[in-house]
Amino acid sequence: MKKSVEIGLLGAGVVGCGTYDVLTRKAEQIAEQVGVPVRVRRVLVRDLNKERETNIPAELLTTRAEDILEDPAIDVVVEVMGGEEPARTLMMAAIENGKHVVTANKEVIAKFGFELMRMADERGVDLFFEASVGGGIPIIRVLRRDLLANDITAIQAIINGTTNYILTEMERGQDYLDALRHAQRLGYAEADPRNDVQGVDAAYKLAILASLAFRAHVRPSDIRHAGIEDLQAKDFRYAHEMGYVIKLIAMARRVEEEIEVAVHPMMIPNGHHLASVKGVFNAVLIDGDQIDQMMLYGRGAGAQPTASAVLADLGAVARNIVHGNPERLGVPRNGRRVRQFEEMEARFYIRLQVADKPGVLARIAQVLGDESISIASVIQKETDETARVAELVIMTHAATEKRVAEALQIIRTLPITRAVNTFIRVAR
Ligand code: NAP
Ligand code: HSE
Repeated sequence: MKKSVEIGLLGAGVVGCGTYDVLTRKAEQIAEQVGVPVRVRRVLVRDLNKERETNIPAELLTTRAEDILEDPAIDVVVEVMGGEEPARTLMMAAIENGKHVVTANKEVIAKFGFELMRMADERGVDLFFEASVGGGIPIIRVLRRDLLANDITAIQAIINGTTNYILTEMERGQDYLDALRHAQRLGYAEADPRNDVQGVDAAYKLAILASLAFRAHVRPSDIRHAGIEDLQAKDFRYAHEMGYVIKLIAMARRVEEEIEVAVHPMMIPNGHHLASVKGVFNAVLIDGDQIDQMMLYGRGAGAQPTASAVLADLGAVARNIVHGNPERLGVPRNGRRVRQFEEMEARFYIRLQVADKPGVLARIAQVLGDESISIASVIQKETDETARVAELVIMTHAATEKRVAEALQIIRTLPITRAVNTFIRVAR
């Protein structure tokens, strides 16, 4: 019987330090639950001289990955360094060396999760990645284990804390850049915030959720994503007037034997479950044939919630090691295809500036009609009488992405059009 479970931590940033902190502060509680103490033996960093606000003893730090990968006393490698490389190679080396792996790395799991899970299976070690999606929300375990009896038909999720924080602040009238800087100071945003604000981070997370939910292989490259950088204060105001809020939604849906996936800003009716998800909170709404609908809600980023998810995995791995009761979760896969984005359907909010003169509305309506796009409402919001420009807000009925893209392309080239400012999908 092992006397302790020894960990090699790859990374001592926001999540690494959070993980070390909880492992030391709650050492007794964790030891009680696992059966033996769980200890950090070595910590890999890039720069030994960096100032760190952490209680990690300096003598644990190393810049040599082999100090962890080749140490036979280390049972579990916890990868919290982020990025594709060298994280992927180090995780593979850890598995090859017979070490269990816990990771918070959505990019590596989204791109190479199947390969890594297969390797772990063959080598007889665990690979857990609860912290890769939804911070402190236990969504991975729920999809991999608890919803096993369900045919999941849809997932709608807010899975990027940074953008939800920014959108919530913008809803309250704050400027985009101020809200982004604040999110970075709070440790929510990735080092490169483009991944967050352009929807890349959410697409990685959606690839993981959709692959598990639909037992298919959904790659990040299958997911069309759009970010929040082009949203303007005006759109929040108009959304509010019409009874909506704007959220960055990651959605996956089963349509017959195909899967639809996308990440983009959406107008969500005020009464929708996801409309009340504010700030850094995340939520995942799941439709399944047995459960009907369920929602998981919690903090989607930050040191403590993410460390909570890392510790959940560590607890499971450590119990497996100590009690020899491996919780090997299979590698699900079937032949379901991801549907072409252009074939997906949505309702649209379109805001545009046009010449303020007779016949203009009829011309716009004609272009939409020619593309079989049915208009639900048109509101003339503002008129600049000097420039003779009017601002129109059009809400459409459901139409395919292809038709809407084609119609907007034509509208942009009309002599009466001054600008197509924004188009936002509207949740059903
Ligand atoms: P972070 O603060 O940037 O920390 C990264 C750590 O990894 C640093 O200690 C860094 O060393 C080390 N590192 C990076 N590249 C390295 C290399 N090539 N060799 C050695 N060490 C290296 O990142 P984080 O926010 O903790 O995120 C870590 C992971 O958790 C990412 O996959 C992220 O997506 C995921 N995650 C983060 C959050 C969150 O709220 N932050 C939430 C959920 C999941 P130095 O300290 O020497 O620079
Ligand atoms: N940058 C990510 C977010 C961290 O804002 O949700 C959690 O993965």
